[in-house]
Amino acid sequence: MRVAVAGATGRTGGEVVAEADERGHAVLALSREPTDEQRDLADLPAILRDEASVLVDFTVPGATVEHARIAAETGTPIVIGTTGFDDAQLDALDDAAAEVPILRASNFAKGVQALLRVVRAGVEALPEYDVEVTETHHHGKRDAPSGTATTVLDEIDSARGDALDRVYGREGNHVREQSEVGVHVRRAGTVRGEHEVMLAGDDEVLTLTHRAESRRVFAAGAVDAAEWLVDRDPGRYDFTEVLS
Ligand SMILES: NC(=O)c1ccc[n+]([C@@H]2O[C@H](COP(=O)([O-])OP(=O)(O)OC[C@H]3O[C@@H](n4cnc5c(N)ncnc54)[C@H](OP(=O)(O)O)[C@@H]3O)[C@@H](O)[C@H]2O)c1
Repeated sequence: MRVAVAGATGRTGGEVVAEADERGHAVLALSREPTDEQRDLADLPAILRDEASVLVDFTVPGATVEHARIAAETGTPIVIGTTGFDDAQLDALDDAAAEVPILRASNFAKGVQALLRVVRAGVEALPEYDVEVTETHHHGKRDAPSGTATTVLDEIDSARGDALDRVYGREGNHVREQSEVGVHVRRAGTVRGEHEVMLAGDDEVLTLTHRAESRRVFAAGAVDAAEWLVDRDPGRYDFTEVLS
């Protein structure tokens, strides 16, 4: 497989390059400011048309949307790890998915997919308990709350059968409502990514935590996804399909 990687100089894209290379794939590492080891991202249309069998993208939302548009023109499957898209950008990715297979995941760690299932079980088993979500990432992360936290919150809403009111941090003087889910964001140091869901009732607390200890775990999942996606039909795909 010939894997083009957008964001190859980044914290996560760099790990994707290493992971794909270790698995024996030919890697086309792309950067806006290429060194000897990278190709120029400006050449993406020709690289996708003539050389790459799949594109893996860990950049920023605006760039990913543009890369997906180009991939749709060249017929190249695309795995998207970038997070923080707004609704218009998600619509643009859907447009691209009409032409090529697209697999987007807010978290490519297998443990997070298991966390989602466990969170669902916990919320269903403890319907009257208060739920609070806390995520911690390194100080360089841009979007908040994380895409994974948003996915966890969506899972909680789905398990409750109702959309809880998302309260981001708290200050001032008021009592917590049962219809709330608290969302807390911490940005510090080099933390790769930690997500905690707390379920608290009278006299007991259940805490579910996932912690990524290396970005390689995201890279491994993204390369798994690329290997799985490369021969699919156009459309939107989910990381859970890769794992199952
Ligand atoms: N889904 C997951 O499992 C997962 C895991 C970790 C991170 N993420 C997400 O992946 C994204 C990247 O995270 P990161 O920590 O790796 O970021 P990062 O270290 O800042 O790297 C981002 C890379 O994107 C490229 N880039 C930045 N702006 C660009 C633009 N306007 N056009 C084209 N390329 C641009 C840069 O490469 P050049 O300057 O060389 O062009 C940069 O190296 C974030 O959205 C993050 O939340 C997802």
